[in-house]
Amino acid sequence: GSWYDADIDHVIITEEEIREKTAALAKQVASDYATVQDGLLLVCVLKGAVMFVADFARALGRHGPPVELEFMAVSSYGQGTTSSGVVRILKDLDRDIAGRHVVVVEDIVDSGLTLSWLLKYLESRAAASVEVVALFRKPDAIKVHVPVKYVGFDIPSEFVVGYGLDFSERYRELPYVGVLKPEVYARV
Ligand code: PRP
Ligand code: MN
Ligand code: MG
Repeated sequence: GSWYDADIDHVIITEEEIREKTAALAKQVASDYATVQDGLLLVCVLKGAVMFVADFARALGRHGPPVELEFMAVSSYGQGTTSSGVVRILKDLDRDIAGRHVVVVEDIVDSGLTLSWLLKYLESRAAASVEVVALFRKPDAIKVHVPVKYVGFDIPSEFVVGYGLDFSERYRELPYVGVLKPEVYARV
């Protein structure tokens, strides 16, 4: 087993479930954007979405349309474990997105504060359209409503890690999503 198995209370979403859901989401997005002429611009929100965007983009590659990848890094959490709502851009888009069809790729929507800010920002850059695909969502944690067109899994508001989701920058590389044992985050 993995080095981290002892820290995980239980798995809530398996590697296979993630793979199947990613394929289904890609199929849906591919058919919705089948007619766009200049392809899709995927905006990956670092760092959590990095695993998902890699798998999602490859799944889209089986069905088209062509995609381009852009990365943004924003910070909303500071030191704590709850979102402050104050978002700072750590890494901006490299290119102009005006007139492009943008799909924001997020690992998780928790309070919605990060995404709500990001959508306003991308719209202010004159994208032709902006939609969101989020692999996970915590419906009980929502503080601001954000229109997320494509959602993988609704999950309970527990402290989950894996497949991009971190605790103190660790556990992102787990291929599944699991609930962290409380004694792990009680250590700090
Ligand atoms: C996490 C997660 C989302 C965001 C969701 O990112 O990856 O981007 O929080 O939270 P919200 O809906 O309450 O805003 P985080 O800020 O921890 O950075 P990371 O992706 O680098 O882990
Ligand atoms: Mn993130
Ligand atoms: Mg994080």
